[in-house]
Amino acid sequence: MLMTSKPMFDLAYDGGFGVGAFNVNNMEITQGIIEACAAEKSPCILQISKGARKYANYRFLRHLILAAVEEYPEVPICIHLDHGDTVDLVKTCINDGFTSVMIDGSHHPYEENIKVTAEAVKVSHAAGVVVEAELGMLGGIEEDVVGLSAEEYEKNIQKFLTDPQQAKDFAKRTGIDSLAVAIGTSHGAYKFKHEAKLAFDRVEEIMKTCPGLPLVMHGSSSVPQEFIDLVNKYGGAMPNAKGVPEDQIAMAVRKYGVCKVNIDTDLRLALTAKIREVFATKPAEFDPRNYLGPGRSAIIEMVKRKLHVLNSAGKADVVIKQWQKLGSPMPGYYSKKCCG
Ligand code: G3H
Ligand code: 13P
Ligand code: ZN
Repeated sequence: MLMTSKPMFDLAYDGGFGVGAFNVNNMEITQGIIEACAAEKSPCILQISKGARKYANYRFLRHLILAAVEEYPEVPICIHLDHGDTVDLVKTCINDGFTSVMIDGSHHPYEENIKVTAEAVKVSHAAGVVVEAELGMLGGIEEDVVGLSAEEYEKNIQKFLTDPQQAKDFAKRTGIDSLAVAIGTSHGAYKFKHEAKLAFDRVEEIMKTCPGLPLVMHGSSSVPQEFIDLVNKYGGAMPNAKGVPEDQIAMAVRKYGVCKVNIDTDLRLALTAKIREVFATKPAEFDPRNYLGPGRSAIIEMVKRKLHVLNSAGKADVVIKQWQKLGSPMPGYYSKKCCG
């Protein structure tokens, strides 16, 4: 069932679970995620990044997600724009039926971030769409923004973490529905040079200055060693890859206000590892179904495991009830509701 993330976060905030926000880039990834969510009766957020939009054209991806909604009506699904960079893009996505958007102005100076975020909130809320914004800086690769190496990031980490007082001011002045915070994670497969450790003390402080505000953790892939080993065994070269340990993800969602957990890298890893394995062990194989299929199966198993780490397995029914309790307010179209 298509919905906004509001009923999900209403329950997740102090319900001891988090919602997986998985990046979709093609059909096999989309099917892998949704099959796992259906099997585990879990809500999910399916999100489309800038890279995905460039690669696949977001209309194709949107229709894949709509197919998932049609095929699995029992699964609560939110369609989300990941790292949206302009208000125009936000408007386009609203008109195209997204139920949630992220406006990422974190690379702008603070006042500019407020300005673009407040504008995105204005147009989104007018259409009933919810908004995530970002404050602070993540390491690694972030869309077009040149990322820092794990070493540089770790060395200067205090400078990049989200400031709790600023978060309070930001939330008040923009009216956002959720906030992506920098707490030591980064995008990609090389998140930590030294010890993998999230800044939970910082999360606690942000929760105090912004009570009730759902927090979002980007860069939450765990980079499972079994997949890194498979990639490396079959001709890949991913030395020193390191992700966020699963116990820290579990803690973030069970003990703190982290309601949304973004995962992309791990899906790519599962798909790539399995494709490499097929190519290496069956060199005559040339039917894409016979290498993408095993990749999809690996994604299903990986996502199932994550839904237990996130403690969202079994929460589909209560989320649907909460959505109905809210009156199932499906977003309308920006152009019909707003005059700007
Ligand atoms: O924001 C980071 C995501 O992993 C998306 O990356 O733009 O290469 O698809 P992408
Ligand atoms: P990972 O690179 O850790 O999967 O993070 C993805 C993400 O944050 C997408 O917005
Ligand atoms: Zn991200």
